[in-house]
Amino acid sequence: MSRTRIHNFSISLDGFATGEPQSLETPFGHAGQKLHTWMMRTQYWDPNGTDGVDHAYAERHGPGIGAEIMGANKFGPPGWHDDPDWKGWWGPNPPFHTPVFVLTHHARPSLEMEGGNVFHFLEATPAEALETVRAAADGQDIRIGGGATVVRDFLAAGLVDHMHLVQVPIVLGRGVRLWDGLEGVEEAFDVETVASPTGVTHFTFTRKAS
Ligand SMILES: NC(=O)c1ccc[n+]([C@@H]2O[C@H](COP(=O)([O-])OP(=O)(O)OC[C@H]3O[C@@H](n4cnc5c(N)ncnc54)[C@H](OP(=O)(O)O)[C@@H]3O)[C@@H](O)[C@H]2O)c1
Repeated sequence: MSRTRIHNFSISLDGFATGEPQSLETPFGHAGQKLHTWMMRTQYWDPNGTDGVDHAYAERHGPGIGAEIMGANKFGPPGWHDDPDWKGWWGPNPPFHTPVFVLTHHARPSLEMEGGNVFHFLEATPAEALETVRAAADGQDIRIGGGATVVRDFLAAGLVDHMHLVQVPIVLGRGVRLWDGLEGVEEAFDVETVASPTGVTHFTFTRKAS
């Protein structure tokens, strides 16, 4: 059975996965790039980047993944639904190279992009979405790509098998929180932490065998 995985999902010390307000100019709101600077400094992102513990975690994002599920607010800024030409942030050849399913209440026809990327638009519960996406993942794992709302909903539904979280030593104070409503969620997982010399802490949540 293919697994559902989350990788490189970054949160502040106070649990926010994005700042506010989200816009075309500031996709992460007042957080800017602070949540992902750790990743941009690695070879995973930049050929001249570092090759240490952060890189080792970051590069686990792609292998074994056959499809991604993301939320409407990761796909575009507020109002993208009203722009028929909006095709995501990532240009003609997005970095996914798999089918990507965007959960939205504003479904539209699928978008075929370069590099094996296809965006599909889907209104469904997390469990229904997973069933649809599993058929498209060709036996491989499914990545839940964020943002916070979608990750939270899949955790709440008990549908996440493995989650790599990165806690960044910043306090955002406002934005979209990951943990709201998830009291005790850690009990379903074996949790490990590794502190990187760069200041971030890597958490892995691996679902306990039932
Ligand atoms: N920290 C990280 O590592 C990380 C990773 C990825 C993204 N992000 C950031 O997170 C932010 C987005 O997160 P977010 O929490 O605001 O939003 P999100 O999780 O990307 O999307 C939530 C939206 O998706 C749609 N949706 C969700 N579940 C649905 C369902 N079951 N059926 C139909 N539609 C559904 C709804 O939009 P509609 O009703 O409008 O369709 C909902 O408002 C962005 O700033 C992004 O850059 C952060």
